[in-house]
Amino acid sequence: MNIKKKILCIGAGYVGGPSMAMIAYKCPDYRVTVVDISHERIDAWNSSELPVYEPGLDEIVRKTRGKNLFFARDIENQIKENDIIFVSVNTPTKMFGTGAGMAADLQYWEKTARQILEHSRSSKIVIEKSTLPVKTALAMERILSSAKGKISFEVLSNPEFMAEGTAMNDLENPDRILIGSRETKSGLKARAELSDIYARWIPKDKIITSNIWSSELSKLVANAFLAQRVSSINAVSALCEKADADVTEVARAVGMDSRIGSKFLNASIGFGGSCFKKDILNLVYLCNYYGLPEVASYWESVVKINEYQQERFIANILSSMFNTLAGKKICILGFAFKADTGDTRESPAIHITHRLLAEHAQVIISDPKALKNAAFDLKDENGEITYTEDPYRAASGCHALALLTDWNLYRKLDYKKIYKSMIKPAFLFDGRNILDHKKCFKIGFNVYPIGKPALSHFKVSPDA
Ligand code: NAD
Ligand code: UDX
Repeated sequence: MNIKKKILCIGAGYVGGPSMAMIAYKCPDYRVTVVDISHERIDAWNSSELPVYEPGLDEIVRKTRGKNLFFARDIENQIKENDIIFVSVNTPTKMFGTGAGMAADLQYWEKTARQILEHSRSSKIVIEKSTLPVKTALAMERILSSAKGKISFEVLSNPEFMAEGTAMNDLENPDRILIGSRETKSGLKARAELSDIYARWIPKDKIITSNIWSSELSKLVANAFLAQRVSSINAVSALCEKADADVTEVARAVGMDSRIGSKFLNASIGFGGSCFKKDILNLVYLCNYYGLPEVASYWESVVKINEYQQERFIANILSSMFNTLAGKKICILGFAFKADTGDTRESPAIHITHRLLAEHAQVIISDPKALKNAAFDLKDENGEITYTEDPYRAASGCHALALLTDWNLYRKLDYKKIYKSMIKPAFLFDGRNILDHKKCFKIGFNVYPIGKPALSHFKVSPDA
């Protein structure tokens, strides 16, 4: 087949791998190559066990890999050979120096820019796919503009809005594709070239364009709004517990207002994932940097409520279980930050496990996809931890279940069988409100949901 475009993506992570697999799948006449500094990651992409678990990803990689999708180690040559370069490297929170704990750490990003500059022998379009602070493109342009000779670079912003667990569907049917560019002749030409790629499978009215700064900022703002909804409903869940209201009923009534909408109103142990916290902190840093402390503290409160919600969950376990967890066995159902992913980055389960171990509980962790990552996250813990994929084996002999991830399989477990295998009185803390609480209560559990009255068999309340 005649190759019409040669596309490179630098960064073979949760975004680079799936998003490039989708482009290769939808555009068989484009050649798509993904590179990474981690050879281990590249080798995994070339193996039968992909480094990222995403429903539907295996199938698309199987259909394209070796045909028009390639995972390669030789970054320098690939920069030379390709005309369109997506950059999808990680942009974590900076942990040192100015802005530590808040600002984005742009070292990986800048290294990539310098590498592109060093190895390019022809003009290229460079596309920011990573989530970046507003005005990053300016720094990229400044680095790339030091190119010698006739080579020129056009920098575009094309933030990725996919969510993990639903990435393949989000990439195939996105709500929108956003492309930001300079509004110069060459900027608009590059913008049109990138639009053409997406137009292969995405309706034109969903491909929106903007100036480059609006595009960069829109990504941070979209994540901040989503996280804010979770913190809003979680803040309400605390009030519901005091006022005998039911947060699911409140969310339903509120969400039916079409101006508010029903999505992202599930009360939980708090949001996790590699994006929300880092992107809000980055937004907070930017607001402070631009002299807007009131705006900064508004967004910071979203993160504070998230931390509060996790602490509330722990406090609830402790007070319901007679204020001591020492020597008790607690089974954690789900360690991933959400269902349908093995990703545990910023998962509330990490903090909750540390806190349970600090109370000298024994923790048994179960998860269908995230046990390897869980063991890595907890490698420095000295407390007693066991990893067991089978939820029935994990729960057997435990004093309590703490459901932390909304995996569908947990809805379908035989809780009668589990109850029988546990130490009595048996406790169930549903950190996702996904179980049938009345049914579990009838089985014999003392049930503690989020934002709803507890269902307890004890005659005397723990506060009495
Ligand atoms: P990731 O850590 O999974 O992947 C990033 C990859 O980049 C790593 O494999 C790393 O080895 C590689 N890398 C770093 N520096 C490099 C260099 N100089 N050359 C080559 N490779 C290099 O991260 P991710 O989750 O894919 O996120 C990437 C970006 O996309 C971040 O900015 C993130 O905020 C954003 N984003 C993530 C998601 C998500 O759901 N994970 C969604 C939207 C946007
Ligand atoms: C998010 C954004 O949704 C996505 O657009 C962006 O590109 C990357 O960041 P992701 O973090 O993968 O995606 O998952 P998301 O579905 O947004 O969930 C984030 C966290 O919020 C999870 O821990 C999830 O369990 C939690 N959540 C979500 C709730 O607690 N309640 C909800 O109602 C929704």
